[in-house]
Amino acid sequence: MEVGVFIPIGNNGWLISTTSPQYMPSFALNKTVTQTAEAYGLDFVLSMIKLRGFGGQTGFWDHNLESFTLMAGLAAVTTRIRLFATVATLAIPPAIAARMVTTIDDISGGRFGLNVITGWQKPEYSQMGVWPGDEYFAQRYDYVSEYVQILRELWTNGRSDFKGRFFQMDDCRMEPRPKADIKVICAGQSNAGMAFTAALADYNFCLGKGVNTPRAVAPTVARMQQVAEGGRKIACYALMMIIADETDAAAMTKWNLYRSGADTEALAWMTQQGEADTTSGSDTNVRQLVDPASAVNFNMGTLVGSYAHVAAMLDEMADIPGLGGVMLTFDDFVSGTEAFGSRIQPQMRSRRHIMEAAL
Ligand SMILES: Cc1cc2nc3c(=O)[nH]c(=O)nc-3n(C[C@H](O)[C@H](O)[C@H](O)COP(=O)(O)O)c2cc1C
Repeated sequence: MEVGVFIPIGNNGWLISTTSPQYMPSFALNKTVTQTAEAYGLDFVLSMIKLRGFGGQTGFWDHNLESFTLMAGLAAVTTRIRLFATVATLAIPPAIAARMVTTIDDISGGRFGLNVITGWQKPEYSQMGVWPGDEYFAQRYDYVSEYVQILRELWTNGRSDFKGRFFQMDDCRMEPRPKADIKVICAGQSNAGMAFTAALADYNFCLGKGVNTPRAVAPTVARMQQVAEGGRKIACYALMMIIADETDAAAMTKWNLYRSGADTEALAWMTQQGEADTTSGSDTNVRQLVDPASAVNFNMGTLVGSYAHVAAMLDEMADIPGLGGVMLTFDDFVSGTEAFGSRIQPQMRSRRHIMEAAL
């Protein structure tokens, strides 16, 4: 099973809480986390793009770096780990994104790939005048389908004459082309998102589910595999938060502390955002994100326990058919990534190949 880190490009990571570690995003922080991940043999890091925070007492995500430029910097200070940036498709034309990918492919020596998002939060885009109107909610994946076809044409042929509903290319040129086969990620969970992934992407990222229920993501993975059946091979990756300590009790104390300090004002804003899209249906995981059950960490699958217990739960995930890997978040990314490498990974059957390679 592959393991990656969803690096902290925004303040306070993925805990919307007054009692979790409070920190700002910086290149230094993300470099430390990425280099630690690389040193322990982790497979990839990915940064999101978020253009508008949630406010509240913690000013949640009001501070966010930019994904491509962060990954370009990280490409220059790493040698082996794979890197993914996220493209805000409403704000960056596909021919520019294609060229940015080519540039980071070159900087990284073929270690770069792209997470394609439609954008589900209107204020991120309306604040800069690029929201196409609320009818976009129902057309999001038609829009990114055209977008990715143009990317692939430029990466493969160095030119595109694509004529679609949203984009018209006119003998558009792009050289040099990337040397590596650029992998495309989509984290869509709606029917339209999964259909897009099956047609044009390589990996599907989904939210894990529940607290200490490692297999709960299996039905989502199965759904993706079913949609892709007979077509492209799609590997699924589950996003999981790790809260680990020496004992189960110590880890659970931290988790309960974070939950007790939930930033209710920031959460109220997020819920409002999640409800704005009335067209994607109940299958979109935007609904899961804002579910009051555990909105404090976006209802992300959460593994809370001793290092040994977390290792065992991750091994359980490795047995889920169609699951290619997990992408991890932590309450504290610096100590969390270090503890994953030194305390959790050595106890994982599904990472034995990494431990053996390090001998
Ligand atoms: C691992 C992961 C990463 C994501 N990254 C971003 C991101 O950087 N920016 C963003 O606006 N949405 C992001 N999303 C949201 C997804 O792109 C997607 O819109 C969401 O999962 C809902 O699925 P749907 O679009 O099919 O309704 C992410 C979701 C996941 C699970």
